Amino acid sequence: MSNTVEPLVWDKRYAIGVERIDREHESLFENYNLFVQSTHNAGDATAVKFGIDLLSNYAANHFANEESVMRAANFPELRPHIQEHERFLAELSKMKQAFSAGEPVYETICRFYRTWLINHITINDKKLSTFVYGLGG
Ligand SMILES: [Fe+2]
Ligand SMILES: [Fe+2]
Repeated sequence: MSNTVEPLVWDKRYAIGVERIDREHESLFENYNLFVQSTHNAGDATAVKFGIDLLSNYAANHFANEESVMRAANFPELRPHIQEHERFLAELSKMKQAFSAGEPVYETICRFYRTWLINHITINDKKLSTFVYGLGG
């Protein structure tokens, strides 16, 4: 199988300026890279299923922390933001089921995680620091 799975490389431009959240985002990147390394392009099906659970669990934990920071800041877009988080977890869970059923969705899962995370951080999460600090925009 060709190796088309790209790593996620953390970069300052992904930082939103809220330290705790940035640290957790960096971990979400690292978790993904460990997932890719440990699954050998879906060669290890058990590692893929276990890895998706770890990715989901860490993400769920991060989302809860982020939502509490947003709640404390009276962030006005909290509700749609929570829905975005829920959609991500639901999608990941659906893809894990498809993988378990033997569908060739490994690369789709990797691409989805990578793309969703970068878009969500740079567009949706960034709105928190814009709201709190009036930064960027
Ligand atoms: Fe978020
Ligand atoms: Fe986030």
